[in-house]
Amino acid sequence: MEEGSSPDLEKYVQSLPIPEEREPDSRRWGVEHHEVEIQETTHSFHPDLPDTTIWGFDGQFPGPIIAGRRGRPLAVEVDNSQLPDEHLFEVDDDIDGTTTENYVGYDGEVPEVRNSTHFHGLNVPPESDGQADMWISPDGVEGPRRARDVQVLPNRQSRLTSTYHDHTRGLTRLNNYAGLVGPYYIRSREEKRLNLPDGEYDIPLVLADRSFDEDGSLQYPEMFMADVSGDTATVNGAAWPSLEVEPRRYRFRIINASNARTYDLGLDNDGSDAHGSVPTIHQISPGHGFLEEVVSIDHHGDLHSLVLAPFERADVIVDFSEYAGETFTVTNDAEFPYAGGMDTDHGGHDEDGDTDGGMGSMDMDGGMDMDMDHPQLPEIMQIRVADEVERPDTSVDPTDLTLPDRNGPDPDDAEVTREITMAMDTDENGLMIHTLNGNHWDDPVEIKPELGSTEIWEFVNDDHHTHPIHLHLVEFEVIDRVRHDDHDEMDGMDEDGMDHSMGPLPNERGGKDVVRVNPGETVRIAVQFGDFPGTYPFHCHVLEHEEHDMMRPFEVVAEDETDNPWRSCSDNPDRERSDKSGWG
Ligand code: C2O
Ligand code: CU
Ligand code: CU
Repeated sequence: MEEGSSPDLEKYVQSLPIPEEREPDSRRWGVEHHEVEIQETTHSFHPDLPDTTIWGFDGQFPGPIIAGRRGRPLAVEVDNSQLPDEHLFEVDDDIDGTTTENYVGYDGEVPEVRNSTHFHGLNVPPESDGQADMWISPDGVEGPRRARDVQVLPNRQSRLTSTYHDHTRGLTRLNNYAGLVGPYYIRSREEKRLNLPDGEYDIPLVLADRSFDEDGSLQYPEMFMADVSGDTATVNGAAWPSLEVEPRRYRFRIINASNARTYDLGLDNDGSDAHGSVPTIHQISPGHGFLEEVVSIDHHGDLHSLVLAPFERADVIVDFSEYAGETFTVTNDAEFPYAGGMDTDHGGHDEDGDTDGGMGSMDMDGGMDMDMDHPQLPEIMQIRVADEVERPDTSVDPTDLTLPDRNGPDPDDAEVTREITMAMDTDENGLMIHTLNGNHWDDPVEIKPELGSTEIWEFVNDDHHTHPIHLHLVEFEVIDRVRHDDHDEMDGMDEDGMDHSMGPLPNERGGKDVVRVNPGETVRIAVQFGDFPGTYPFHCHVLEHEEHDMMRPFEVVAEDETDNPWRSCSDNPDRERSDKSGWG
């Protein structure tokens, strides 16, 4: 397949599709069961583009919304037996996980098509987590760590906007690009009481960049590349869609489901005769629970724009009531690959004395990537405000909204601090590789937090890319960001090269499971390791980085098995338990 640019597609000619919420297929022992089928099917991204073959949960891209309620377990069974035995894309077997030799203690077959579905951001026992080695092939070959087909999700945590997505070792980037990602929510009573815009006024926006061939097929490089971008913005599976809204308040759940692209989002007023202003984006949540306070995002707000790295989310409220008849563009200012908002195309980091090719230059991508220019995506979608509301808006005014308290982990409780460094190199095949603490996925587990304990993890990024780091199982608290280098081109850096520490960004003051670590930064998080013992991964959520090989395990150890009151939870999902955490 030849890399090239996608067919030119006219923007804003189709309306935004809105994924439906999935009805459970059955209820057993009082637990709602979802039976989701992974299907190869065709999907229309744009009326002028031929239909595209995708893989989708229930045959949809994005997959349907799966929603649980706080404290009520859900059971999900994902069936991939209908998939063909050949992948939609070229599988590069230089990437670990694609051949038997890559596995320690496994000598079975490694079929080309495999799936493991992860429910991102969930507090879940390891066997229901959908991890990299828990795959199954369409004809039933099972990866070494697969323990069950029905994944039980306790939902015993804060309200949530998140995703479920493929996590198969050696195939994550390809399976996600093929379409295997959908929204996952947990709703809570507390959330309901806030009187946020809901029903048809509560809309997920799943952002994913893609490239297409003339015949409509998805374009993905045949050989592994460490940073893959698409030149076409899609939202909820539609290229450059347009959404008609009423002049009232909306809640948007913005989910970045792109493989590698970070967005820096804002609104632009398109009208020349209009007053030119745009509504404020009021962010209420970074995914888990609620922020400390509502964060205003506009030119004069707490933040000027909304940055979302892969698999970060934002719950926001936008009030269009003063903007009847106006049209807005959702804009994106982020460069690709993302490096914390600095302009990488103009030799921003030149200390190695390389050419000014920025991130696309030879040293960065091991020669693989020299001619590949990474398209920017300055426009994402359009929003047109109708003249009138259909019914009066009785939802809460976000400027008067007091968000529920949360009590995240307290850094003062931490007895262990761990440092995790990020590095980039070229592997034995000449491919660009990123690592955590210089290790590979299969190296022995070095991180073993005690069940229930709080730790501080320090992520040190001396690399040139931003790495959005994700931990399974937990929601964590960002403590601070410290500049540890002396890149003088960075804003806010003193001439004397002194470290600068800043607290979390206003929209990081809440429960997070992905945190961006920018070049030259050390980011500290406080994390409490409940509720389940066992082995979980943490990784960069740029899927190409994760796959090669920026993913490592940590093992939560229960001092004593009897200490673990949750053991039976996964076997007995409907058992009544009292909430132990007070998280919103
Ligand atoms: Cu969203 Cu380990 O994944
Ligand atoms: Cu996850
Ligand atoms: Cu990364």
